Amino acid sequence: MSVDAAVILAGGVGKRLWPLTATRAKPLLPLPGGTTIVSRLVRQVSKLTRRIIVVVPPGGREHFRRVFGKEGLSVVLVEQEAYEQGGYGSGAGALAGLEAVGDAGTVLVLNGDIVVHDSVFERLRGLAEAGRYGVVAVEVTAEPGRYGVVKTDGGVLEEIVEKPLEAGGPVLVNAGIYLLPYRLFLDALRSLRPSPRGELEVTDAVNTVARRSTVTVVKAGGDLWLDVGTWWDFLAASRRVLDWMEGCEAEGEIDEKAVVRGRICGRGFRIEAYSVVEGPVWLGEGVVVGPQSHIRSYTVMHDGAEVGAFVEVKASVLLENVKAKHLAYIGDSVVGEGSNIAAGTVIANLRHDSRAVKSCSGGRVVNTGLRKLGAVLGAWVKTGVNSSVSPGTRIGPCSWLEEGAVARHDVPACSLVGRNGEIRDISRLNSGCCKRISFGRGVGLCG
Ligand code: G1P
Repeated sequence: MSVDAAVILAGGVGKRLWPLTATRAKPLLPLPGGTTIVSRLVRQVSKLTRRIIVVVPPGGREHFRRVFGKEGLSVVLVEQEAYEQGGYGSGAGALAGLEAVGDAGTVLVLNGDIVVHDSVFERLRGLAEAGRYGVVAVEVTAEPGRYGVVKTDGGVLEEIVEKPLEAGGPVLVNAGIYLLPYRLFLDALRSLRPSPRGELEVTDAVNTVARRSTVTVVKAGGDLWLDVGTWWDFLAASRRVLDWMEGCEAEGEIDEKAVVRGRICGRGFRIEAYSVVEGPVWLGEGVVVGPQSHIRSYTVMHDGAEVGAFVEVKASVLLENVKAKHLAYIGDSVVGEGSNIAAGTVIANLRHDSRAVKSCSGGRVVNTGLRKLGAVLGAWVKTGVNSSVSPGTRIGPCSWLEEGAVARHDVPACSLVGRNGEIRDISRLNSGCCKRISFGRGVGLCG
């Protein structure tokens, strides 16, 4: 038996990842290697099957087509119906995807917002070749209410319990990867009813299939899988992928007066004199480092990002075309595409009391459990000279910081943070930028 088709569920909105998802769908966030979360999955799945369907958000087809085209990936794109038209939940996405498959013996369905090690797909291939069905479960210490918990009986799936509130301790969580018999799965998806949270859950359909056939639980270590739910998960995912890129190549120009240590991955970059770059790092096409800058390990600079003189970047992700040309510090942070970090800007990553940084996610303040964590800036943010951003802060796209301003809390999109801490709307002043925001001026903001 083989895997006849694969369906990747990439139709979600990614509310908890605001502000990064205000300007692109979550599965299109870039990863080291010049790829995106979903393109990486497409590439992995294409080793198992050639029929790949990607379910994308309503109206998202063009954007995904462009990204896949650039990477030379060929898939069928299906738009998930809008929420109001019944396209709510992963179950609706899976149904749309399976219907587009037409017919098959086995189908692999997976979440489009996960980062998975290649070896997990190798194990699925082995399972399919042995004529078995399976779901992947990983052992992690789960935040209660965040994942589906997998119950097994002698290695066979009994049930996935969605987001129990007392998950605690190391448990087996549902990785969102299901290799199942096509017909049974399709029937189960067609008879789904909304769950208590009002969505159609793909896991309810998986449970139905597990009652009617034998589904093996493929156990994988927590270090082989990560789901990208929050912006600090996105930082962790970028790090994880860098770790997995052993033996990567560095095709760029490195000035003989630069100091380069450890594993440098990337292509088409330039490191100028008197800079120090400590691997592992990813430097994309057109990236410029220096002169005189310090890039510390686990930094990812996507295409066109430039840092100039006396800039220190520590374990951060700079999205496409970020510019930080003079005298700045960026620690454990994500900076959205096209943002400009002015001279003297400090994006801090440590509280004076050294306690874990808190940040807002989906409308509530969450303890990230991380002592070192900076901030997340959306696309096209401009910081003023000598401004600073406190740990855990989220700044919406197209917002500006006045010179000397301090951003401490959530800042909605298209806003100006003044020196006195006041936030005012600049949608008119910055209308060209604000028009480019596709989703949410301020989704799930905390006060
Ligand atoms: C989904 C599944 C859940 C699983 C999780 C993994 O949840 O329903 O069982 O553990 O993905 O990423 P969602 O991310 O849709 O909330």
